[in-house]
Amino acid sequence: MKIETLRWANNHLEMIDQRILPASFEYLAYDSAASVAEGIRSMVVRGAPAIGVAAAYGVALEALRLSGLLPPARGKAGMGVGDTASTPSPALPLQGGGNSAADFNAGMEAGFTVLAQSRPTAVNLFWALKRMRAVWESVKDQGNAAVAQRLLAEAHEVLAEDIRINRAMGKFGAELLPDGARVLTHCNAGALATAGWGTALGVFRSALEAGKKISVIADETRPFLQGARLTAWEMVQENIPVTLITDNMAGFMMSRGEVDAVVVGTDRVAGNGDVANKIGTYMVAVLARRHNLPFYVACPLSTIDMTINSGADIPIEERSVDEVKGFRDYHWAAEGVRIRNPAFDVTPAELVTALITEKGVIREPDRNKLQALF
Ligand code: MRU
Repeated sequence: MKIETLRWANNHLEMIDQRILPASFEYLAYDSAASVAEGIRSMVVRGAPAIGVAAAYGVALEALRLSGLLPPARGKAGMGVGDTASTPSPALPLQGGGNSAADFNAGMEAGFTVLAQSRPTAVNLFWALKRMRAVWESVKDQGNAAVAQRLLAEAHEVLAEDIRINRAMGKFGAELLPDGARVLTHCNAGALATAGWGTALGVFRSALEAGKKISVIADETRPFLQGARLTAWEMVQENIPVTLITDNMAGFMMSRGEVDAVVVGTDRVAGNGDVANKIGTYMVAVLARRHNLPFYVACPLSTIDMTINSGADIPIEERSVDEVKGFRDYHWAAEGVRIRNPAFDVTPAELVTALITEKGVIREPDRNKLQALF
């Protein structure tokens, strides 16, 4: 089964609802910047590259909507926006098909703002908004409908390009893994975190495609369980050998010689090579160094933020304490306990064996090597 995390269908953006995987598989439909922003915020779509693609479509949808070119979406995929469990925020006010350029522009600015506020850490969101803004600026004088069509074409290109990039990274990454490698990964950096193929999981797919026998060890990834729910599901769908462990088992597995390498994705790489990724990644990197295992980070160039000096400056999202208290409606933590829930951590560049990018493998990343990529 080919996993299409995001797709354009019936004149809307449809996204797999990742909150309910693997118990249910369902698409939700989106028809505005505000509804896409809510889909990102509520984790219907997650994973840095997928968030970027969703944001690109959010901009295009807003332009189509403000041009009066979109029928409103209602309900689930094929029918419309949201489901009963999610309550997408209301779309920004529609000014109608005959919008003046000024009203259209004001509506677009509001769309960009609401998307930029959806999640803070993955830089791909801001990368995609910047790219869409540049396209908008370049065709601004061509009329609302033409602008909207051009932005939609760009969103399609962002999606297609993401898959091409993942394939390229996969090829470079696959060369790093020996035949028979048992590779540990954290969180989900797979097809579900991208437009398809995946970054870290794309490396595994490419290695398998190249005829290597790879097996995957998936950290459960507390508290949101992206490893148990999403990575395990993706691997099982394709009969890729996968073993699920809780996060605190990684050290034991390494100490027993049961791990050959680590490959993870990333949400933002700072100019000096420090890597922000799902909370717990830093712990895995420290363990990998202790056990002399290579720690690889699959990283499209859209995830490198040269404007940020070091990992200390990367904004780290703090999510609801409910995610740590328990899962969904079941709470196991003592009532009244103080709880923290940072969603990402930073692995210093010195612990990174190499970044795997679409332009090649960058060993021992530092500012000069990253600068040279652009
Ligand atoms: O909170 P999430 O699920 O959006 O976090 C996702 C991750 O941390 C991924 O590892 C990262 O975005 C890379 S995805 C190719």
